[in-house]
Amino acid sequence: MINIAVFVSGGGSNLQAVMDGISSGLIQNAKIVLVLSSRADAYALDRASGAGIPTAVISPEEYPDVQVRTSTILAHLKEADTSLIVLAGYMSILPKELVGAYAGRIINIHPSLIPKHCGKGYYGLRVHEAVLKSGDRESGATVHYVDEGVDTGRIILQRKVPVLPGDTPETLAARVLETEHEIIVEAVNICLKSQEFCAMVYT
Ligand code: GAR
Repeated sequence: MINIAVFVSGGGSNLQAVMDGISSGLIQNAKIVLVLSSRADAYALDRASGAGIPTAVISPEEYPDVQVRTSTILAHLKEADTSLIVLAGYMSILPKELVGAYAGRIINIHPSLIPKHCGKGYYGLRVHEAVLKSGDRESGATVHYVDEGVDTGRIILQRKVPVLPGDTPETLAARVLETEHEIIVEAVNICLKSQEFCAMVYT
């Protein structure tokens, strides 16, 4: 059984997709052991508690010292015996030490076709505003491994959606989000079955 920690900051619809993927059997041999939020008011926490999943809130406000914040997050991950971290709408940048500790075992979902509209400052609705401003005719979602950069790690899966005439950031976000819910489940499976991941976790 692979223990997954899901990091969230908001609504948690991608967390829900992973939870549903596990309960329906689309994702096998895995369990969510921790939902960690950077915000105390994230609805994702209610989704987790409702399903009996342990939660933790570690916000930059409560833990302003990055060293203390990092070691607190690492302690929670260790306590939960975490093998894979899924960033599902997590709006904080991971400290380098944490990325190093879980190298190759952290994945992130981003609501655009990386390398477009990503990096520092591109998150949530800002991404969709940038897509509409650019005049792109298509957008989409990407799941990638997390490295020390922002949205720069190796891509696992990407899927396109059209940008339609009259789209607002909100309508485009909703269309992309539907695709996110599909690819996050597929990407978790790809990662869990990959040789690199299995070599790290099972040896
Ligand atoms: C999703 O669209 C996710 O891709 C995005 O935040 C939303 C969270 O929704 N993440 C980023 O922008 C990270 N750069 P959710 O809380 O309903 O899963």
